[in-house]
Amino acid sequence: MSTREVVLGVGGGIAAYKSCDLLRRLQDAGFGVTVIPTPASLHFVGKATWEALSGRPVTTTVWERVDEVRHVHLAKESSFNLIAPATADLIARIAHGRADDLLTNTVLASNAPTLIVPAMHPQMWANPATVANVALLRSRGFIVMEPDHGRLTGKDVGVGRFPDTARILETFALITDPVRDLKDVKVLVTAGGTREMIDPIRFIGNQSSGRQGYALAQAALRRGAEVTLILANSALPDLVGATTIRVQSADEMFTQVSDCFDSCDLIAMSAAVADAKPSHFSSEKIKKGSLTSIDLAPNKDIIATVGERKTTQVVVAFAAETTLDIEEGERKLRAKGADILFLNDVTGSEIFGSEQTQGVILTSIGADSISREVVERVSKDTLADLLLDQALSKLG
Ligand code: CTP
Repeated sequence: MSTREVVLGVGGGIAAYKSCDLLRRLQDAGFGVTVIPTPASLHFVGKATWEALSGRPVTTTVWERVDEVRHVHLAKESSFNLIAPATADLIARIAHGRADDLLTNTVLASNAPTLIVPAMHPQMWANPATVANVALLRSRGFIVMEPDHGRLTGKDVGVGRFPDTARILETFALITDPVRDLKDVKVLVTAGGTREMIDPIRFIGNQSSGRQGYALAQAALRRGAEVTLILANSALPDLVGATTIRVQSADEMFTQVSDCFDSCDLIAMSAAVADAKPSHFSSEKIKKGSLTSIDLAPNKDIIATVGERKTTQVVVAFAAETTLDIEEGERKLRAKGADILFLNDVTGSEIFGSEQTQGVILTSIGADSISREVVERVSKDTLADLLLDQALSKLG
């Protein structure tokens, strides 16, 4: 088997024509490419085009060339799958293990690293069904790109455009030529938001979705790290390949972090931890007439507590603020004993639950000085890699 064999799956979206150029660029990069279009995609780009461009036979169902058992053969022969464009329907079918055309049969029979490049209307991309399907695929190790923002086929503008070929190839290189620079590094990531119970029904919580920490854990896994993910109240699924520990309150998170900290090399505290909890938990539901005030007791500052114990660990903290006060961020970095702090301004709900983020990476240099790196709007996956790059330089 050639190590540079690719299955290029093409879904039934108008962006299918852009994959003709993608196919050419893959060939330029030395890949042997077999195209598997879905039957619907042939409305946009016909078989003849794919056969002429790839120089290989093209079939779309398991009922053609049956003697070759093409789905099994292609799954075995290919080292990578690249699915571009992936429609909402194709993403749903792959996420749910459907096998109703040659492409989905091949993906199901394959254990090759797979990159999925979505393209669809913004409403379809933002639909909770698609969001859940994408999360499921990511949790299983598929890399699902973020579509671009811009003009769609109709007059609408939003997130859903097929990314340009250069960006697809850049992301594809993550799986074809993976950087394993965190091999044997033990990474501990906290994500999500803690809940502090008031009574069996009510709690004090926060807006964190867990996506940034999840992206960090995924990036660390991809780069070869051994990852433990402590996830507080997140709808995101367990991360395949990592140890996922679910917690609810700040106290539970503190216990888990304390247990894992000594054996880790790098901790990233991206969880939004409640600073205080009700000083008394009522085991009975509090009737509304009695619910006039809640006495609070402070929670332990997890990062500061483990930070005091640190020996060689690199500590990454986060600070979500409503104003981007860099000096305050620097004060926090020192107060927490952190090596790196990502400071972001979350006003206007542009960050929580979103796939994008922006802010400033503060990194301590020696005892007195701190460097500042401004991060313009990027995906949370990109930020994860930037933070791991900084942490790696600290790991030595
Ligand atoms: N953090 C923590 N334990 C807490 C609170 C926060 O470990 N009890 C961690 C967060 O995970 C984050 C960092 O500390 O990495 C900064 O969190 P933030 O809420 O901004 O800091 P606070 O010290 O709570 O400051 P503020 O007064 O601004 O709330």
